[in-house]
Amino acid sequence: MWGRGAVAALAALAVALWLRRDEVIERSFSLHRTHSLKDMENIFQLVRNVIPPLTGKKHKGQDGRIGIVGGCREYTGAPYFAAITALKVGADLSHVFCTKDAATVIKSYSPELIVHPVLDSPNAVHEVEKWLPRLHSVVIGPGLGRDEVLLENAKGIIEKSKVKGIPIIIDADGLWLISQQPSLIQGYQRAILTPNYMEFSRLYEAMLRDPVDSSDHHGCVLRLSQAMGNLTVVQKGERDLISDGEKVLVCSHEGSSRRCGGQGDLLSGSLGVLAHWAFIAGAEKTNGQNPFLVAAFGACSLTRQSNHQAFQKFGRSMTASDMVSEVGTAFSKLYET
Ligand SMILES: *[C@@H]1O[C@H](CO)[C@@H](O)[C@H](O)[C@H]1NC(C)=O
Repeated sequence: MWGRGAVAALAALAVALWLRRDEVIERSFSLHRTHSLKDMENIFQLVRNVIPPLTGKKHKGQDGRIGIVGGCREYTGAPYFAAITALKVGADLSHVFCTKDAATVIKSYSPELIVHPVLDSPNAVHEVEKWLPRLHSVVIGPGLGRDEVLLENAKGIIEKSKVKGIPIIIDADGLWLISQQPSLIQGYQRAILTPNYMEFSRLYEAMLRDPVDSSDHHGCVLRLSQAMGNLTVVQKGERDLISDGEKVLVCSHEGSSRRCGGQGDLLSGSLGVLAHWAFIAGAEKTNGQNPFLVAAFGACSLTRQSNHQAFQKFGRSMTASDMVSEVGTAFSKLYET
């Protein structure tokens, strides 16, 4: 039969198992509570706060005039996706500054866009600068390519935009330019960089002279932001990590396992609008949080929700155009309920 010792040992084991289970539940619950439910819901609320109400009193252009700098002979889709997404999110006007031979192509995709064939002209920087007083934010990089002359012009446009103090979103080959010349944007805290993993690694190595530590993604995003002078960094991936050098937010809103080309352009285009809205909303609306963190979280969630909805309809065959069609309902679902 069972000895006293065996019974006591079994009882102790049961208690130990119970405690462990309890502890695990406690820990996962508190993680859940601090990182997912409460914080996430709070940030969603901050995004809702900065969205300007639709009223009849405003004039055209008040809700956002966004400039997209990019588009060349090879790449015409990316600037189109960024610019049309800005409109779908709620900007009033979307301007594309691209090369001459890309302009007709981009215009023919959509009559809604204003397309300027100036990016390869000899006085490109001046041609874009003329428009800057009328723009609320600029997105630099979609379809820019790596042509030396175009990169040099993009550089000039970044410099002029900084002087005007307008929010600058940098993506794609704009990030290539930054990895070559980080001082171009370093310390400008109204900039948001949106690297994918490859672009992130290149920037990280350029700034920190070290390879990315794949066991510490949070720390790496935080350190890159700090090294850049606390501008906002959005590392796109399975989960999006967003940092302003002080905080790291995780956006793991459900999307799908399908990543189609052009998804990053939807993100940068929506970020152009949300960065403007969050920036002018004021500290009260963002509860003292960095407006660009709020904007980035809002744009990442929106892009993921659009992906999710398009995937529900089209599965494997979904494309960036299908996602663009979902932006309106995704926006309502997240922010207008
Ligand atoms: C960046 O933010 C960190 C954390 O808040 C702070 O310690 C540091 O001084 C900031 N750096 C700059 C350049 O603002």
